Amino acid sequence: MITSNIQIASYLLASILFILSLSGLSSQETAKRGVLFGIIGMTIAILATVFGENVQGYTYIIVAIIIASIIGVLVARKVEMTAMPQLIAILHSFVGLAAVLVGFGSFIDPEVAKLQGAEMIIHMVEVYIGIFIGAITFTGSVIAWGKLTGKISGKPFVFKGKDALNVVLFIATIVLGVLFIQNLGSPMAMNILYIMTAIAAFFGIMMVMAIGGADMPVVISMLNSLSGWTASAAGFMLGNDLLIVTGALVGSSGAILSIIMCEAMNRPFFSVILGGFGQEIKTGKKIEGTVKSTTHEIVAEMLTEAESVLIVPGYGMAVSKAQHPVHDMVEKLRAQGKKITFGIHPVAGRLPGHMNVLLAEANVPYDIVLEMDEVNPTIDQIDVVLVIGANDTVNPGALEDEDSPIYGMPVVEVWRAKQVIVMKRSMAVGYAGVENPLFYKDNTSLLYGDAKDSVDKINSNINR
Ligand code: TAP
Repeated sequence: MITSNIQIASYLLASILFILSLSGLSSQETAKRGVLFGIIGMTIAILATVFGENVQGYTYIIVAIIIASIIGVLVARKVEMTAMPQLIAILHSFVGLAAVLVGFGSFIDPEVAKLQGAEMIIHMVEVYIGIFIGAITFTGSVIAWGKLTGKISGKPFVFKGKDALNVVLFIATIVLGVLFIQNLGSPMAMNILYIMTAIAAFFGIMMVMAIGGADMPVVISMLNSLSGWTASAAGFMLGNDLLIVTGALVGSSGAILSIIMCEAMNRPFFSVILGGFGQEIKTGKKIEGTVKSTTHEIVAEMLTEAESVLIVPGYGMAVSKAQHPVHDMVEKLRAQGKKITFGIHPVAGRLPGHMNVLLAEANVPYDIVLEMDEVNPTIDQIDVVLVIGANDTVNPGALEDEDSPIYGMPVVEVWRAKQVIVMKRSMAVGYAGVENPLFYKDNTSLLYGDAKDSVDKINSNINR
């Protein structure tokens, strides 16, 4: 058992470690150290909480920790890199559900019932807001999980009057909040909480159902932010400073990431976080023309003749785990004196930094991995672009077709290079479900097949 002063000091230390963890995670070189700081901070936080004053029921706590740790280790070992976003989404839903349960628990807590006057009102406002944000986070994250796993269609689900309905329900939530405070102490208050929870849960569902493929990355980081604010709200309800600080860190970093992503994708932030508020549904122009296919031998020859090559990886590279043969190919071509660069779109793959993580894992040097904004101005001078399993992030319709659902989103402008090779297995669309006019361009050929298989075959044809 530790004193409350030691607990406060431990919480402070854990908060500092979490801040160091976040700053470590901001670059690839320091990311491992960042993760380590996070693990140490979380261990201190758990120990300081479990051994705090007034904690009882150690048997339950130990059993819960053992079960949760086993599940955590199994899931972390089993999960594929490509399934990471859905895992994160479902973990966010747990934070939301926990906040809802903490809120109801706090509402019926006999200790809380002893609070008087303003203290009671402030606490109950915390409970109300905590449950509201928690329920939105819970259902929103479950729907995001469904969309990311493909169990729910990735297409935006909207109906006439959706925006008006959301506004009415939001006003109803505020009115119910006032009634809740006025009826504290009567059974009516609990009923109001139930109704508000149902409305918030509905909000969460509507908000994420209305989001189309291209906006999903922003929604995921927004749910991450919401889960942080939810934890913060739970911290207020439980009077736990560490939860408040940690939640605020997650909440604000998630919000900053959401804004950065919206800017990178040229999406209106408020419209996206309000479930596509005021946005119309678009389908994109029909594309006409023919698609050319090519062979591994021809691509190997093209690469041998090229002086500069740009590689644009996407989700397909992650699925096929092609990063290692891609690294081998890059080394071979660099040894021949060719200039090789990678162009990374901010939302390539299925989670922020997805491509960077894979390329780092395969030991591709950091200095040739450039961001979209850095490569776009240089593409006219590139001899060959290899698009490896990317689709939406290289779609010219985003710039040229006003009817495209992804119109306005910046993309890697690969079609401006002299020649473009797209590696994919079929003519299937990407995550946003949009046809890609790139495949029909004169300077573009498709190399059909699994990306890893294709790169392996190209490798064996280079320098035969
Ligand atoms: P996508 O547009 O999703 O396209 C990936 C392409 O890879 C598909 O067209 C698929 O075509 C191909 N592919 C799949 N498996 C393959 C394999 N084994 N070998 C070769 N090709 C394979 O990918 P992107 O360009 O990276 O764009 C990402 C999309 O995901 C964006 O719409 C983005 O908004 C969304 N998103 C991103 C995130 C984050 S945070 N990055 C989160 C959620 C959603 P075939 O089936 O024909 O092979």
